[in-house]
Amino acid sequence: MKKIAMLGSGFIGRFYADSIQGYRSKDKVVSVYSRREESAKKFAEDYRCSHWTTVMEEAIAHPDVDIVCIALPNNLHEEAVMLCCKHKKAVMTTKPLGRNAAEAKRMLLAVEEAGIFNGYLEDLVYTPKFIKAVDSVKAGALGRILWAKSRETHPGPHSEWFWDLEQAGGGCILDLGCHCVEISRSYIGKDIKPVEVMCWADTQVKPIDAEDHAIGLVKYENGAIGQFEVSWTFRGGLDLRDEVMGTEGTIWINSFLRTGFDMFTTGKGGDYIAEKAESNSGWLFPVGDELNELGYNHMFMDMFNAHDSGTDPKETFYDGYVVNAILDAAYRSAKSKLWEPVVLDIWRGKEGLTKESHLVSYDDAHYLIKEEMTHYGDKKLILKHKETGAISEQIIK
Ligand SMILES: NC(=O)c1ccc[n+]([C@@H]2O[C@H](COP(=O)([O-])OP(=O)(O)OC[C@H]3O[C@@H](n4cnc5c(N)ncnc54)[C@H](O)[C@@H]3O)[C@@H](O)[C@H]2O)c1
Repeated sequence: MKKIAMLGSGFIGRFYADSIQGYRSKDKVVSVYSRREESAKKFAEDYRCSHWTTVMEEAIAHPDVDIVCIALPNNLHEEAVMLCCKHKKAVMTTKPLGRNAAEAKRMLLAVEEAGIFNGYLEDLVYTPKFIKAVDSVKAGALGRILWAKSRETHPGPHSEWFWDLEQAGGGCILDLGCHCVEISRSYIGKDIKPVEVMCWADTQVKPIDAEDHAIGLVKYENGAIGQFEVSWTFRGGLDLRDEVMGTEGTIWINSFLRTGFDMFTTGKGGDYIAEKAESNSGWLFPVGDELNELGYNHMFMDMFNAHDSGTDPKETFYDGYVVNAILDAAYRSAKSKLWEPVVLDIWRGKEGLTKESHLVSYDDAHYLIKEEMTHYGDKKLILKHKETGAISEQIIK
């Protein structure tokens, strides 16, 4: 049984608590910290926590607590992590790890120095669809991964602090791009070094200092390309989609808006349809079990199993740091309009890779460009001569 201190009683704190103890599981939030007394008390009542407090350190240091879950605004992650190091408490923090790579690096070094368990709560690499897709990729079903795109767009976040650049540390690039980058990175291979980023970002709609829409490309050392599409101005709900392309196959995943559950209602009945749904009438796309579809259950299972066995979970502060470093390069590129290098002071993956050869031999003399069966029964081969470079066509009856 894990005894958890929940720091933050808001949107994600409640999703996390629902997942941790919502299925009569053996794990329990025993302490909750919230800024306001009434929210701490309400959360403690709703989740039957024996202890609540408005002093962050009290929840962390509470003797019953063996793992701390940080569900606070981005500018408070570092302070909370440093207190976990001080009290030698295992820690899991929500995304993004830091507001930038410098903050993330300080947190990574601090937890490693303190020797405490650290987990990065990137739920979207734990969704059932993602887990199955990535297993297929690892088994070679898609061949060499060439491009991995992830898109997360919605009509904007639900609390005031997200819209304040100082507290949030960025706009939709940081808030949503962190998910997309880790998704693409996982498909391409987390040991493959991200080298440079090209990003367009703009504030198209909202009266804020941060960006509300962005598209970015992340180049990896082996020649693969990651792509993120993020927006706080998208209308129509929460759009979560991935597309992966390899030399041997393709995966398309729609994780939220079109999961195979379509419903029409005139609007009678409950107001809540799914996270960030913009309407409760007309044709709607509800989600069967959000906790599961969004990966929270598999994520906490991995975190707690790893904590039990003294191993690292799939996602650690190191991953959070790499994601922050990629996003820092995206912000620099959006300003400079150039490819910007990813600055990684700490890199623990492969080094010195080059783009793999894209040449496939057909026979001793030719490379194969394409093979196709026509509707009239001929099999066509398009070939390139290895020495002369001449392109030719062969028809096999
Ligand atoms: N899918 C995900 O992984 C996901 C989804 C949403 C949010 N998040 C992350 O979770 C964190 C919290 O976001 P949220 O959506 O729960 O926000 P929220 O505003 O709903 O809740 C934040 C909590 O922190 C408290 N808080 C706010 N300002 C504070 C302050 N200045 N001092 C002390 N406490 C303060 C609030 O009272 C509340 O309990 C953020 O880092 C966000 O990026 C992750």
